[in-house]
Amino acid sequence: MKPVFVVAFLILVASRTFFETAGETSDPLRFVHLSDLHCQIADRNPEGKFPLDPHQKDLVRSYDWLAAAVRDINENVRPDFVVITGDLTNLGSQISHVRKVKDELDKLNCPYYPVVGDHDRKTTYGPVFGEKYSYAFTTNGWRFVALDGYRGGVNVEGLRFLKREIRDHPDDRMVVFMHRPVYMGRLEETLAKRVYGTSLLAKNAGELRTIINPASNIRAVLAGHCHLNLEMVRNGQLHITSGSLIEPPYQYRVLEERDGGLSWGFRYLRLPRATGMNLAAKAEGRERSVREDIVGAKRAIPARGSQE
Ligand SMILES: [Fe+2]
Repeated sequence: MKPVFVVAFLILVASRTFFETAGETSDPLRFVHLSDLHCQIADRNPEGKFPLDPHQKDLVRSYDWLAAAVRDINENVRPDFVVITGDLTNLGSQISHVRKVKDELDKLNCPYYPVVGDHDRKTTYGPVFGEKYSYAFTTNGWRFVALDGYRGGVNVEGLRFLKREIRDHPDDRMVVFMHRPVYMGRLEETLAKRVYGTSLLAKNAGELRTIINPASNIRAVLAGHCHLNLEMVRNGQLHITSGSLIEPPYQYRVLEERDGGLSWGFRYLRLPRATGMNLAAKAEGRERSVREDIVGAKRAIPARGSQE
């Protein structure tokens, strides 16, 4: 069989089984990547300036999207845990908004691990989610390292923490997660600079690269912030950003250990259209129950070292 057919066959087999093995205790590591929830108690959506505006959010249904994701994660994905790469709230200064996010996340049947984003504020995030902003945990031989990316860059403590983690866990497969990415595609980066007049990368992305790139134990870096689904391999490390939960196509990412690397798929959510009629019904407490149509899309990534 030609190599291309072998690869196609393997991807097909991998895809068919991606969401079919949930809940089995012998499953490989499976976790969810949520990002940019931008939850806000709001009675109307902002006007988007143009079709690609990353801040054209469905704020009025932001908690509904989160609730729909939590239900789907519990019922259909059943991951080992969930990581959330920042912007949990849209108005981070409002502690009631932060508490409402936690109330929803506490409904997860698994642990969850958030980090602060640009929109979050430590003065409200800390009292609700705790004041450990850079932290780590180990599961199934994987070390997950959360970095404090408050206000756009990883601070000195975060950088020190990352270096220590890399040094102290040389044999663990490591996944680093934070709010802003350290890599984006050249096209996306150029467009972002032109449209927004600024980079969407971590403010000290260059410094982070000097630490991350030589670390052979780091397998993947997960981020949010740019509200785009991007995947790329740099120096044998997978760099992923996941889009905002409350923007089209209203999805979140599921990652799974496969052949020593990570593969991923998406779960797509659907809510009733936010018409004036059902918003009024919601305000009166007579909204119809949330309907969720779930479609799993799959894509496999080869094990570390097989793609540069
Ligand atoms: Fe965001």
